[in-house]
Amino acid sequence: MLNAVPQLTLNDGLRLPAVGFGTYKLNGTEGVNAMKKAVAIGYRLLDSAFNYENEGAVGEAVKQCGLPREELLVTSKLPGRHHRYAEALATVEESLYRAGLDYCDLYLIHWPNPKEDLYVEAWQAMIEAKKRGYVRSIGVCNFLPHHLERLILETGVTPSVNQVELYPYFSQTEQLAWDNAHGIVTESWSPLGRGNRVLEEPIIRAIAEKHGKSPSQVILRWHTQLGALPIPKAVSPAHQQENLDLFGFSLTQEEMKQIDSLTRPDGRTKNQDPDVYEEF
Ligand SMILES: NC(=O)c1ccc[n+]([C@@H]2O[C@H](COP(=O)([O-])OP(=O)(O)OC[C@H]3O[C@@H](n4cnc5c(N)ncnc54)[C@H](OP(=O)(O)O)[C@@H]3O)[C@@H](O)[C@H]2O)c1
Repeated sequence: MLNAVPQLTLNDGLRLPAVGFGTYKLNGTEGVNAMKKAVAIGYRLLDSAFNYENEGAVGEAVKQCGLPREELLVTSKLPGRHHRYAEALATVEESLYRAGLDYCDLYLIHWPNPKEDLYVEAWQAMIEAKKRGYVRSIGVCNFLPHHLERLILETGVTPSVNQVELYPYFSQTEQLAWDNAHGIVTESWSPLGRGNRVLEEPIIRAIAEKHGKSPSQVILRWHTQLGALPIPKAVSPAHQQENLDLFGFSLTQEEMKQIDSLTRPDGRTKNQDPDVYEEF
């Protein structure tokens, strides 16, 4: 039997489960079926984006899963091509129409795209979207401390969430500390490094063996003990089940440090430095 999933409280009071479900590449009927399976075994937070072109599938899974809407938490994200205020608000509305939902629980600016320099305007639109009741909480993805500082300084509103690339080869210690110090919950995207060779790391395999757990479970438990909220994606029902079963064991401080030691400056999966990389 699964141990209950703990909850994290955002700076505006919304509560999120300590692990969510990634949906990148889960599209169409197959995507709906994968999401319904995930919800059936206990996932409650579904992470989507306008650019994943699957808000329709997410909305359909919410409708078909048999749970009351208020028991599920749906995230979507604003694409870089729509940072201008009016376009950003229309995009949030479009997300709701696509999903067939009255509101999103969490809406995030997907990338800062600093060369365009429109992310403060996009943030003003997020603030308005929350006021209008389109979304319950607002946040960002891939924002570095200096991007966040500008949002806070220029609007007075601190994001509730910063979703960043975080996994053992790129452990984001400083970003996590900055977010924590400012009351921002850090979500980890690609928390398993997209299933790359991190799952084969001898350090992780040894810890997994000691606890009678899988490498993925050890990695995801490491995220939760860091205070980050991982959103692993899995089509395989066995993976889905494993990735939710994280709360019946704990890593020691020494094991946490051993995993931390795997981090490296070039550890990003696709070299997407938010100060340089832009996505539209
Ligand atoms: N904000 C952003 O800029 C951003 C960027 C990237 C991703 N994201 C979000 O983060 C979510 C997660 O990231 P991701 O999809 O890139 O990668 P990920 O969750 O790190 O890895 C997914 C891969 O790992 C495999 N896997 C999952 N559980 C496993 C397990 N227990 N054992 C072995 N393999 C396992 C999956 O296989 P199967 O599917 O075959 O089970 C899949 O191939 C995305 O889906 C998306 O929602 C956000």
